[in-house]
Amino acid sequence: MPKKIVAGNWKMNLNASDANALISALEKKQNTLDVEVMAFPPSLFISGLSKEKIRIGVQNFYSKDKGAYTGEISILQAKSVGASIGLIGHSERRSLFGETNELLKDKVDAALSQGFSFIFCCGEPLEVREAGKENEFVKKQLEESLFHLSEEEMKGCVIAYEPVWAIGTGRTATSEQAENMHKEIRSWIAEEYKKEVAETVSILYGGSCKPSNARELFACPNVDGGLIGGASLNVEDFSSIINSFE
Ligand code: 13P
Repeated sequence: MPKKIVAGNWKMNLNASDANALISALEKKQNTLDVEVMAFPPSLFISGLSKEKIRIGVQNFYSKDKGAYTGEISILQAKSVGASIGLIGHSERRSLFGETNELLKDKVDAALSQGFSFIFCCGEPLEVREAGKENEFVKKQLEESLFHLSEEEMKGCVIAYEPVWAIGTGRTATSEQAENMHKEIRSWIAEEYKKEVAETVSILYGGSCKPSNARELFACPNVDGGLIGGASLNVEDFSSIINSFE
């Protein structure tokens, strides 16, 4: 059974004291459900945040260990402030910062070699969905950045399907659209590896997920949780999304 996960991607929001207050408030709300809760704050704030009940990760990292890479952070640096996981390939990194499938593959390899967990993000832009080519687009993202992994490495990986047209737009994928893609993703993993491997991979949905639609999305058999943007900045909304697994 894939692990149930609800993760908050705070993006470039909040300041240090807001970040502290949000984590403290979330810790007080923590649930008894079997759901792993994660937060991805701006990495500047990570060292100051409690990591007792919520797993803290970085929104981005570079594949090299150290050196002349102005503005980047390494996995070793992320670990040194208590981050244990990182996002790879968020659509904003891909579209605004030019991250390619090839560069993301290097990040995947760097994470594996450093024993650093990751959530690999994939998802198609609107024009691809409108052209009916979303399956081949997402499959290519996985093939070019992830499917070189060994069976052992693929086991327990976390993938987030975030259709670009649903991110920050208020236009959530319907539970049917989400389930269809998640089911495809799991079947590609089963074809590439085997069914037992596919069944260990958590596939999260992201894109305008909120308290009003989380329950329906999380009830889909192949949706193992969510990667939440805007709604993760509000403690009541985020807790309500976590509790949607009830
Ligand atoms: P929103 O929930 O704000 O649409 O963002 C989703 C996202 O990009 C999470 O990584």
